[in-house]
Amino acid sequence: MKRSIAEHMFSSSTKTAWWLATFFSVFVTGEMPIQAETEPEFLQALENHTVTQGRDVHFTCVVNHLSNYRVAWIKSDSKAILAIHTNMVALNPRLSVTYNNHNTWKLHVSNVQANDSGTYMCQVNTDPMKSQMGYLSVVIPPDIVDTVSEGSTAVEGGSVRLTCTATGEPPPTVMWRRDDGKAIVFRYEGGKERKVVNNYKGETLELTHVQRSDMGVYFCIASNGVPPTVSRRYYVEVHFIPQVKVMNQLVGAPLGSDVELQCFIEASPRAMNSWYPEDGKSLVSDKFIDNPKIRVLEAVVNEYSRWMNLSIKSLSKADFGIYTCASVNALGKMEGQVSLHRLELSMNGFGAEEPMVSGAAWQRSKNLQPYRMRPAASHAHQYCLTHLPPQLYALLLTALRYVQAL
Ligand SMILES: *[C@@H]1O[C@H](CO)[C@@H](O)[C@H](O)[C@H]1NC(C)=O
Ligand SMILES: *[C@@H]1O[C@H](CO)[C@@H](O)[C@H](O)[C@H]1NC(C)=O
Ligand SMILES: *[C@@H]1O[C@H](CO)[C@@H](O)[C@H](O)[C@H]1NC(C)=O
Repeated sequence: MKRSIAEHMFSSSTKTAWWLATFFSVFVTGEMPIQAETEPEFLQALENHTVTQGRDVHFTCVVNHLSNYRVAWIKSDSKAILAIHTNMVALNPRLSVTYNNHNTWKLHVSNVQANDSGTYMCQVNTDPMKSQMGYLSVVIPPDIVDTVSEGSTAVEGGSVRLTCTATGEPPPTVMWRRDDGKAIVFRYEGGKERKVVNNYKGETLELTHVQRSDMGVYFCIASNGVPPTVSRRYYVEVHFIPQVKVMNQLVGAPLGSDVELQCFIEASPRAMNSWYPEDGKSLVSDKFIDNPKIRVLEAVVNEYSRWMNLSIKSLSKADFGIYTCASVNALGKMEGQVSLHRLELSMNGFGAEEPMVSGAAWQRSKNLQPYRMRPAASHAHQYCLTHLPPQLYALLLTALRYVQAL
């Protein structure tokens, strides 16, 4: 009996299977495998494959002059014999062998799994045996496995820890980024910047001593070169007591003009914002104000900042007084005050009793705009009023009289 596949390599069951195959061939053909004049030879090398999990793949083994020898497929790393000719030995329904009735055998692996990776051998039972090897490498696109994002909310000065565990083959790289290309900031106690980066590599992103500007969307992105890349979105929320800034604490305006009182609010979590006059009820938003002269306009600046401007049209005597801009959230309340007072205009010049004119109110007066009063910072505006050329001065006064006449 001919010794076939290097016997030291295989288990006894493997040898048995091979022996049976040889016996079968003897039984069917009535002759022993003989040393043919021309030895079997491989016509091409076995391929190497890199395949995404779940796909199908096959190795092609082309042998000429096989004579009575047999082609077998072996998984070299586990030393398991998979098939002899087209007879499957391995009990794996995802494996099969096809033969083209000439010189070509194909080992098919369907729905490839991670544990299919390794070295595959196409072997002929000559003595010594002839074989060739091909490598199957199974890759798996990245996946983000943990679904719990812990503590993505902190009070200003506190810390936030985001984790993103990714699987895949090869093992993916996890990268953190903010939306809109904002930087990720690592801080010292007190909030001072320690390190500012556009992206951060690692499964865990820990932000300590967070500031309100750290608030927003963070993405973890897992990639390993196998498409598709996956990402997960996290929202970091930073809480603090509202902060209220009124642009001008003193606003002077003549009777009949229009004013806009401006208030800048920073708050998180979301606050209840309102303007209220000395004696009146609070003015929250357009919908709830029945006075057609008054509008409250809120404009969002970013996650935690907004403008809240109160505009009053055609000022009457009763409109002058103290206005308070207030913001209250779960952590506290803050307010800012504006004193809106009447500006007297006379032919002798601007209000002797009101030498300081604080700007925004004026600039916003609709009736003045045709005269190209540039919107400017309040100090610039004071400059305008006190240094007007006489012609412009006259125009301005005409305009104001017109306004008051309305
Ligand atoms: C398969 O990979 C092995 C090892 O990297 C290499 O030696 C061999 O030449 C490759 N075979 C083919 C057909 O490219
Ligand atoms: C290979 O993995 C598949 C799917 O995970 C499993 O069904 C099979 O039993 C594994 N085979 C071996 C030999 O570990
Ligand atoms: C409020 O006033 C500020 C400062 O002039 C301005 O930038 C903002 O657009 C105003 N907001 C609204 C809603 O009018």
